[in-house]
Amino acid sequence: MIQKDSPIPIYYQLQEQLKEMIENEELDPGTPLPSEREMAEKYEISRMTVRQAVTNLVNEGLLTRSKGRGTFVAEEKIEQTLMKLTSFSEDMRARGIEPGSKLISFEEVQADANTAKHLSIPPDTYVFQISRLRFGDGEPMALEVSYLVKDRLPEDTVNHLENSLYDYIEQQLGLAIDRARQTIEPSFATSREAELLTIDEGSPVLLLERTTFLSDNTVIEYVKSVYRGDRYKFIADMKRQR
Ligand code: GLP
Repeated sequence: MIQKDSPIPIYYQLQEQLKEMIENEELDPGTPLPSEREMAEKYEISRMTVRQAVTNLVNEGLLTRSKGRGTFVAEEKIEQTLMKLTSFSEDMRARGIEPGSKLISFEEVQADANTAKHLSIPPDTYVFQISRLRFGDGEPMALEVSYLVKDRLPEDTVNHLENSLYDYIEQQLGLAIDRARQTIEPSFATSREAELLTIDEGSPVLLLERTTFLSDNTVIEYVKSVYRGDRYKFIADMKRQR
C-alpha cells in the first residue's frame, strides 16, 4: 500500500490512507489506532514517519490522542448553531442524544466586578454560583458555571438543578427567556476542567460566555461554559448584505 519509490512522501501516503479509511467509515469513531511500532512494522516504514502522519491527522481533528491511553479515531463533532437561543438539553435532544446534568457545586457568593457588570447589579450583590457538568449520552461534554441573582430566585433553587435550568426558569418560575449575547473563545483545559471532562490537561476547549435576558430586559443568567474542543463546532448561516 505504501509506495517507497513514489515522489509522494511516505508520511503523506500513510496519512491519506488513514484519512480515507476514516472517511469511508472503515475505521469507526472511537476505534483505537494500532501503536506507532505496530504500524511501522506493518508498512515497513520508520516510527518517525508514522508519527508525522498521525500528528497531522490529530492536528486536523480526525484523530485524538490521549495521554497513556493511545490514539483514537475522533468522534463526530456536534454542530451547534449560533442562530437560535437554545438550552443544552434542547441541543442534545435535537440530535437524538440524551442530555444529562450533574450539580458539582452550588454556592451563595458576592458578585465580583465582572459578574456584576454582566448581571447589571452592584458589585458584592449576592448571587448563586452554580457549577454543572453536562453530559450527552453519559459522556461529559461541557462544564458550566452559571451566576443568577439570588433575590430573583426562590430559596429552594438548589433542589431544581438536576435537569434543565431553562425548563426550571420557564416552566416552574414562569419567566420568559427572550434573548442572549454570547462570546466564544479558544482556550486550554485546566487540570480541574480536564479531570471533569475526561480530557487531557491543556487540550483545546471553547470558552463560551452567555448573558441571557428575559423579555422585560432583566438579566436572568450569566454563564461561563467550557466546551470540549474535540466534540464541538459552531455553525452560522450567513447571507450577504446588499
Ligand atoms: C447552554 C448555555 C448556558 C445555559 C444552558 C441551559 O448550555 N451555554 O448558558 O445555562 O444552555 O441548559 P439547560 O436548560 O439544559 O440547563
